[in-house]
Amino acid sequence: MATHQPIISNKTACVIGGTGFVASLLIKLLLEKGYAVKTTARDPDNQKKISHLIALQALGDLTIFRGDLTDEGSFDAAIAGSDLVFHVATPVHFGSQDPENDMIKPGVQGVLNVLKSCVKAKTVKRVVLTSSAAAVTVNTLTGTGLIVDENDWSDVEFLTTAKPPTWGYPVSKVLAEKTAWKFAEENNIDLITVIPSLMAGASLTPDIPSSIGLATSLITGNEFLINGLKGMQMLSGSISITHVEDVCRAHIFLAEKESASGRYICCAANSGVPELAKFLSKRYPNYKVPTEFGDFPSKAKTIISSEKLKKEGFTFKYQIEDIYDQAVEYLKTKGVLQN
Ligand SMILES: NC(=O)c1ccc[n+]([C@@H]2O[C@H](COP(=O)([O-])OP(=O)(O)OC[C@H]3O[C@@H](n4cnc5c(N)ncnc54)[C@H](OP(=O)(O)O)[C@@H]3O)[C@@H](O)[C@H]2O)c1
Repeated sequence: MATHQPIISNKTACVIGGTGFVASLLIKLLLEKGYAVKTTARDPDNQKKISHLIALQALGDLTIFRGDLTDEGSFDAAIAGSDLVFHVATPVHFGSQDPENDMIKPGVQGVLNVLKSCVKAKTVKRVVLTSSAAAVTVNTLTGTGLIVDENDWSDVEFLTTAKPPTWGYPVSKVLAEKTAWKFAEENNIDLITVIPSLMAGASLTPDIPSSIGLATSLITGNEFLINGLKGMQMLSGSISITHVEDVCRAHIFLAEKESASGRYICCAANSGVPELAKFLSKRYPNYKVPTEFGDFPSKAKTIISSEKLKKEGFTFKYQIEDIYDQAVEYLKTKGVLQN
């Protein structure tokens, strides 16, 4: 009797920056689909930082290489022989006093290093770069319900002049993505970029990812992070949330979909802090979710649209209820929330 092999069973995928929140789940999904996976970590000798990757080796063929975004050539070995490359790693230092050197330069340099290794490898059929909603949503427009799509870029001139808190991150993501598009065009690389919003759900990482901490701050009551969430709405125009698994599924969907091309926003739900708080307070009455926000804008300025991704044939598995139910259960397992 004939057996049906998955068509991608002999393919190799390389994931740059495997230790992270998104990358570790992406690796899990790739292994479950039968890919051989090569990944990189800055410090593969640090057993605690790579413990979740070691655990994933039980699922399939996963090799861990050393690689740093700032070391030219350090991804050559991991990328050699790969069919697909997912560049997920990014330098994240929200509290940095020197965003230029901590986020912007290494972000751009990292993209060039990864893409140069792809050219050298000569086996890479497609590169998927993880960008961010931060690269599309920041602008000086006013109003509510403004649609943001793949034609938009965050306003780097405004960010570098006004320097609002965390300005280095959106600048780093815009410049890294633009650098990738330029290099890909000049070197004939088939590039796709995924533009996710803030992610939550559960994580495989040993530590709780900062994005889950931020997304759940209204439930945990962390005042510092609630202020961070308000700052996010003021800067980006909305609180937009997606399940991390859907973002990883979108990466693989777009990598495998022949017709895919260009940038793809991946965002499940758009909201504002007061609106989100109202929803969370009703859904989780046993936690003290604040619902009074004075004159803080209750409606989001922007709606980040995933229409292009949906038109390509992608369906979101998780809506806002599932995203938060899973995040709450996850935080219970981590001892952050009580029953
Ligand atoms: N999480 C979100 O809500 C969210 C939303 C939108 C977009 N994104 C994008 O999604 C991607 C993954 O984010 P994440 O939340 O998974 O981040 P994360 O958990 O903080 O992981 C960041 C990863 O980048 C690696 N990295 C940082 N600096 C590096 C360097 N100099 N050289 C090599 N690797 C380096 C880290 O490796 P080490 O283990 O060596 O530190 C880590 O694996 C990023 O591109 C981010 O911009 C995330």
